[in-house]
Amino acid sequence: MRLVLLGPPASGKGTQASVLTEKLNVPQISTGDMLRAARKAGTELGKQAEGFMNAGKLVPDEVVIGLVDERLEQDDAKDGFILDGFPRTVPQAEALANLLEKKSTPLQAVVQIDVDRDLLVERATLRRTDKETGQIYHLIYNPPPAGAELVHRVDDQEETVKKRLDQYDSMTAALLPYYSSKDLLKRVDGVGKPNEITERLLVALGVN
Ligand code: AP5
Repeated sequence: MRLVLLGPPASGKGTQASVLTEKLNVPQISTGDMLRAARKAGTELGKQAEGFMNAGKLVPDEVVIGLVDERLEQDDAKDGFILDGFPRTVPQAEALANLLEKKSTPLQAVVQIDVDRDLLVERATLRRTDKETGQIYHLIYNPPPAGAELVHRVDDQEETVKKRLDQYDSMTAALLPYYSSKDLLKRVDGVGKPNEITERLLVALGVN
């Protein structure tokens, strides 16, 4: 399965990708996680990306395209992948199509997870991530176990979340007509329990 998960910030892409990766037996490729890892490791790429990420802006296309190009070359992505958070602009989508065309392995599906803006702000600001495992929690909807060492993302402050949502509206929402015109787009309602959303995704993908 070669799949793109689309959706606004905090719509549940990471939560769902981590479940689907087991069910579909393909790796989850999250550009957000890759960029955060680079930032933490203090690499040149991480330093380049940091200012954009902390300000709630998109990292320049050429940076993320290079990152994904390299990642798709790895062995575990040969039989498929779940892209989470990439592409986010039409130029990124076009670059991805070109990369995959060279390998004769086009995308098979693009699924958008739809959630209203108010709920997205609440989901993002109360998100916490396990420092060791990266497991995603929510202080109300999916509380972390006692004693877990938690990270509150720098870009999950309310003002920055709103900027990220604006970036989504101005840059990423254009991918919906783009993929719809290619007959690849499916949409699922992202409001409900996480396992209900997983079921909806599997039905949309025809693998249930
Ligand atoms: P990235 O990490 O990709 O952030 P994002 O797209 O904003 O998505 P999130 O990680 O915020 O949310 P999610 O949809 O994965 O939701 P989650 O499952 O965690 O990108 C971060 C930054 O990196 C960008 O701003 C940009 O600077 C840069 N970047 C990354 N990719 C880029 C690219 N391609 N181009 C340019 N720049 C790029 O869930 C959120 C919360 O909700 C959690 O607390 C979770 O527990 C909870 N939750 C999930 N599902 C449910 C549910 N069904 N009910 C209740 N709560 C739920």
